[in-house]
Amino acid sequence: MKVMHVVGNRPQFIKLAPVSREMRKRNIEEIIIHTGQHYDKNMSDIFFEELGIPKPTRNLNVGSGSHAQTTAKAMIALEEVMTEYNPQCVIIYGDTNSTLAAALTAAKLCIPMIHVEAGIRTNNKKNPEECNRIVADHLSGYLCTPDRISVDNLKQEGIDEKKIHFTGDVMFDEFLYCASQENASEYLKKYPKDYILMTWHRQENTDSRERMEKIIDFIEQVKYPIVLPLHPRTKKKIVEYGFESRIQKNSNLIITEPVGYLEMVSLLKNCKCIITDSGGASKEASFAGKRCIFLLDLEVWPELIESGWIQILNFKDANSVKTSMEIISAALNSDNKKDKGDFFGDGNAAEKIVDIVEMILN
Ligand code: UD1
Ligand code: UDP
Repeated sequence: MKVMHVVGNRPQFIKLAPVSREMRKRNIEEIIIHTGQHYDKNMSDIFFEELGIPKPTRNLNVGSGSHAQTTAKAMIALEEVMTEYNPQCVIIYGDTNSTLAAALTAAKLCIPMIHVEAGIRTNNKKNPEECNRIVADHLSGYLCTPDRISVDNLKQEGIDEKKIHFTGDVMFDEFLYCASQENASEYLKKYPKDYILMTWHRQENTDSRERMEKIIDFIEQVKYPIVLPLHPRTKKKIVEYGFESRIQKNSNLIITEPVGYLEMVSLLKNCKCIITDSGGASKEASFAGKRCIFLLDLEVWPELIESGWIQILNFKDANSVKTSMEIISAALNSDNKKDKGDFFGDGNAAEKIVDIVEMILN
């Protein structure tokens, strides 16, 4: 009775952690396949070590490349390991190229598949993650959604209701778990007392020089310390587009290497507010009780947009830029409190997902 997890990217390691912990509690045999799409120590190993995830059974060392290259390489290698291990069930996470590769491969091998974080839609197929999620959802037999909006999204696409399970969000599980464990003061010693937290990595925000310049212009207007753990993709593009010296001249920017999740949770809990284009961090902002300026014109987490936790920063709309700046100013003056919603479950999503795993195994 073997269950295979397929992961490959930073956010997937975080999503895997609570599911794997629950499976180990119930003595379910797990095979962890790491596609190798993320490979730097601070984009990969650190999460396994800090979050107590068992070492991957196999690393497929797919590495970086174009969308087709990473997806195709992962599919070829996954077909071999899925055939070799013959799992009773495959679990895929999120919406990356590793998710897409695993979904296509497991579906063609007729292996029952659970998609964790199913049903998210931003209604924009130019967004690479949107393409991945649609395929993963339509190929999986068990769709575990993080919120209720995702349930509705799946129903609207005609997916059989029996396949849809509102489990809540595994990222909420892991945030709560880590927030109750970490020793924040140790991590925070190296940062200023008051700061804004920023992350920045999405393709839409890094593959165009003009777009990167808009973001740099914006953060130069924020006259306040900004802690920015920099994704390797963005770091490379800053050099490629010749923005290094401008970034270095901004004395408010505190750039670090990507940080581990325990440090990230400390940073989230102690910041004034968050500027990000990350799907995960934009939601975690609300878990930490912080407002988020979202750097993409994408309908990420509609419930958080509607309730004011997330403000979309649309550079084409002067009002949107003005409102974003006002939110940041208010956050700096501690006017950051909002009513917390109850959108992402009860912090026990992993238990509900592993109940489904047991149902499949039995
Ligand atoms: C990928 C996902 C994205 C997710 C993100 C999480 C896809 C299409 N995109 O984007 O949905 O939000 O992961 O972080 O799957 N690089 C390194 N070292 C690493 C990893 C990446 O140097 O360990 C650099 C390489 O130059 C690489 C670039 O980052 O070409 C982009 O990496 P890639 O995995 O293609 O996409 P991400 O932007 O990380
Ligand atoms: N994160 C982290 N260290 C960092 C930056 C992000 O641990 O230096 C965490 C973040 O808190 C969230 C996840 O990584 O849990 C989000 O991953 P990312 O932004 O890479 O991808 P996305 O969520 O956009 O797919």
